[in-house]
Amino acid sequence: MKMGALNDYNLIAGIYDRLVYFVFGKRLWDAQREFLHTIPADASVLVLGGGTGRFLHAMPAQVGKIYYIDASEKMLRIARQQEPPHLSGKIQWAHGTETVLKPGKTYDVIITFFYLDLFTAEKLENIMALLRQTLHEDGLWLMCDFELSATTHRWWQSILVKTMLLFFKIMTRLEAKKLLPFAAFFARHQLIAQREASFCKGMVRSVVYVKKMVQ
Ligand SMILES: C[S@@+](CC[C@H](N)C(=O)[O-])C[C@H]1O[C@@H](n2cnc3c(N)ncnc32)[C@H](O)[C@@H]1O
Repeated sequence: MKMGALNDYNLIAGIYDRLVYFVFGKRLWDAQREFLHTIPADASVLVLGGGTGRFLHAMPAQVGKIYYIDASEKMLRIARQQEPPHLSGKIQWAHGTETVLKPGKTYDVIITFFYLDLFTAEKLENIMALLRQTLHEDGLWLMCDFELSATTHRWWQSILVKTMLLFFKIMTRLEAKKLLPFAAFFARHQLIAQREASFCKGMVRSVVYVKKMVQ
């Protein structure tokens, strides 16, 4: 039997934003918007797994070119249809995955919002290494993702994470089996947290990492 692609969001692309709102209200969008203002003027930006691109509406108008990659045709179509007027002509849309990145091409800023949580640890190590190479020295990497907080809220967060993993496993053939400690991955790849904020009682973290030279 031929199996479909992993992490395939086509089936739920049309309801994705409503689903997010139903479960989290506006908090995930707040987390995505939190540090967009730190993107320098004229910066070249790489977006991976951008989905419907809701956050693009909060992008600073003075941003440079944006290279926007998503593996789902339907997600990409929705994002293109909703392209904010202030970014008109600045976005290059690409249907695909990190494999479409051109070797040697680098960006000032990378954005991964709820993208790193799609992968197994082994795959994530490879993706982090590839994306690190794709980022300019002193470049910024804006990420948002889930984590289990070390608070009294951990028990319900753990139930919610397990429920989401099961839901996305069924609906998208999610590759990830569990939530990974993303901060440790960034540390291993010599990316330094510059600014951080948490949302949903610590269940969502939004971080700006900066790339430093490997000694
Ligand atoms: C959980 S959604 C997040 C969407 C958006 N960033 C947001 O926060 O609303 C993950 C997105 O990554 C895309 N995706 C899955 N695997 C991918 C890959 N290897 N490369 C690029 N995009 C991918 C999916 O199609 C989907 O749009």
